[in-house]
Amino acid sequence: MSHSGKHIAAIRKDYQLAELDEQVAGDDPFAFFHKWFADAQKADAEEVNAMTLATVNAQNKPHARIVLLKGLDDKGFVFFTNYNSEKGRDIAENNNVSIVFFWKELERQVCIEGIAEKVSIAESDEYFLSRPAGSRIGAWSSPQSTVIHTRDILEENYNKYAEQFGDNAPRPPHWGGYRIVPSQIEFWQGRSSRMHDRILFTRNTDGSWQKCRLAP
Ligand SMILES: Cc1cc2nc3c(=O)[nH]c(=O)nc-3n(C[C@H](O)[C@H](O)[C@H](O)COP(=O)(O)O)c2cc1C
Repeated sequence: MSHSGKHIAAIRKDYQLAELDEQVAGDDPFAFFHKWFADAQKADAEEVNAMTLATVNAQNKPHARIVLLKGLDDKGFVFFTNYNSEKGRDIAENNNVSIVFFWKELERQVCIEGIAEKVSIAESDEYFLSRPAGSRIGAWSSPQSTVIHTRDILEENYNKYAEQFGDNAPRPPHWGGYRIVPSQIEFWQGRSSRMHDRILFTRNTDGSWQKCRLAP
């Protein structure tokens, strides 16, 4: 459907692809997330692992941006970044974070809240060394989230580090991963007339999960 020229307020879509009930969601939100992620891959969702990450600093200022999910195990959701970036500074002050996936091809959203923890050095090294050579040089070259007066600074840095490291740049000490250990995971399936399905899993103190339905 084309929206060209439409008034913003008039842009709307009725969601009719699927429904979500308590039984289908099961009892294990990680297993269900894997199922939905696989569905999104099968549906050729663009940037299927892109997620919005929201952080809040010590002054209660929120900040959201997209990062890429790069790992998922039975503990949580892993992404990689520059630890000195704004998000890194926010997390150092307040490790409560939220992530959101939106798979528009399936009319699905997953909203997760949890605690961000740095992954092990070995885990950061392993992922960093799997990255293309250019991205590795890029990680050295960009003082992420700081003001730079011209792009030339980036290019100069890139050339300098490319010369220094060639194809074998090691992981910069300020670069690594965070694992978001979830305390709640909500699965949202768009339905017609804004009567969407929302199933929320909340983690109990003993690690088990309880499930409820939220009004859309
Ligand atoms: C599709 C997409 C994927 C991105 N993936 C990452 C990522 O995995 N890690 C990262 O640090 N930044 C990623 N970025 C850039 C961030 O959105 C952001 O600009 C950068 O991390 C600086 O954020 P901060 O200043 O809030 O810390 C991505 C941006 C987009 C649009």
